[in-house]
Amino acid sequence: MIRGVRGAPDILPPDSTALWQRLEGAARSLFAAYDYAEIRTPVFERTELFVRGIGEGTDIVEKEMYTFQDKGGESLTLRPEGTAPAVRAWLEHGQFVKGALTKVYYIGPMFRHERPQAGRFRQFHQIGAEAIGSASPEVDAEVIEMLGHLFCALGLRDVTLHLNTIGDAACRPAMRERFVAYVRDRKDALCADCHVRLEKNPLRIMDCKREGCQAAVAGAPKAAESLCDPCRAHFARVRELLDAMGMPYVLNERLVRGLDYYTRTTFEFTAAGLGAQNAIAGGGRYDGLIETIGGPPTPAIGFAVGMERVILCLKAAAPPAEGRRDGVYVANADAVSATRAFLVARDVRADAGVRAVSNLEGRSLKAQLRQADQGLFRYCVILGERELQSGAAAVKDLGQGSQETVPLADLAAWLAPRAGGHGRGEARVRAEGGAGTGGAGE
Ligand code: HAM
Repeated sequence: MIRGVRGAPDILPPDSTALWQRLEGAARSLFAAYDYAEIRTPVFERTELFVRGIGEGTDIVEKEMYTFQDKGGESLTLRPEGTAPAVRAWLEHGQFVKGALTKVYYIGPMFRHERPQAGRFRQFHQIGAEAIGSASPEVDAEVIEMLGHLFCALGLRDVTLHLNTIGDAACRPAMRERFVAYVRDRKDALCADCHVRLEKNPLRIMDCKREGCQAAVAGAPKAAESLCDPCRAHFARVRELLDAMGMPYVLNERLVRGLDYYTRTTFEFTAAGLGAQNAIAGGGRYDGLIETIGGPPTPAIGFAVGMERVILCLKAAAPPAEGRRDGVYVANADAVSATRAFLVARDVRADAGVRAVSNLEGRSLKAQLRQADQGLFRYCVILGERELQSGAAAVKDLGQGSQETVPLADLAAWLAPRAGGHGRGEARVRAEGGAGTGGAGE
């Protein structure tokens, strides 16, 4: 047997897929309410986009990218994140959503060659949102509130918002210098990774999880002390708005984030009960990224949600309940009624938009009834010679045990409001002159 690739799990029905659809549905409807439109970019891009965008000294670019040469000799990379592709598309196609501020969201797989563990995968999925074109702190506050709103809508209560600011191109160099001067004296206490970070990306030492490194930087000068006035004012306004909305947060001066493009506001949501990989979403402002990849200076901010981690939270919050019954199983009592049962199921699907299944595998009536029950169908219709002659059948409610006789011609209309369908007949696809439920059919 050929197995799937380590760190790239399958998402399977019924339970997992249903939760994924719930998460996606919640994000889609919520983001639309904030005026975000969906963008879909390819899963691979030119490698250079990520090297320049995310930054050469980052873990992602140095160690984790799935990079390959295609048959044309070009270096391509499976996207490790969605921000660089989103702004690449925005740049390439001009302002594809009208107005000065472009608001987009995306849902899809990302790829990082990390060591798989609970909550960490090599193919994982993100729901991301990007607001491109405004430096206004109001945008920061709205983006953060939208993310908090999503978790709230999903019923996740035990989440914490961590908030920080890391300055901008004007004040970050001095901030970095002061930090490096402090840490150099404590270099011996740092782990091997942080020795490299000290040279390439020193501020990242701040969020190293190792105890020795945490102790070494415990007394380091705080980012907030080195902020320039505009960065200070920006952050104060973001906090003012979050406070006005009653959004609780923890000021976390260690929150530096693992991608180089961030400026000013950075944030993460963590969830209780997830162990080491407890960040369920992260984001921040990236006012320099678009210029880095060859565009005009354009401020922007966004976030991405780690879907697998949110699904873990949803599973923990609500263990799979006894499935809800819906739809109809159209059983045939004898061979004469098999074709008619097949057609009735087709017409119920098309006319009522109801989940409808018939006996595709030539099962006995007993086996069909078992299948109807195990498949959690709400209704079961049994068609036999008598029903075909009378044009009506008993519809059994498998949940309640009750039963009603319904003319076959009315079956779709009867089922639509009861079995979870739309009942508008809009999905009807039928060859010219084809037979319907009420027609000849056999
Ligand atoms: P990130 O912090 O690298 O940010 O990823 C965002 C979220 O994706 C993380 O908080 C985590 O939940 C999830 N995640 C990351 N790596 C893995 C993994 N290997 N397995 C499972 N989940 C993972 C970004 O990607 C930025 N592009 C976010 C952003 C958008 N910033 C501005 N706009």
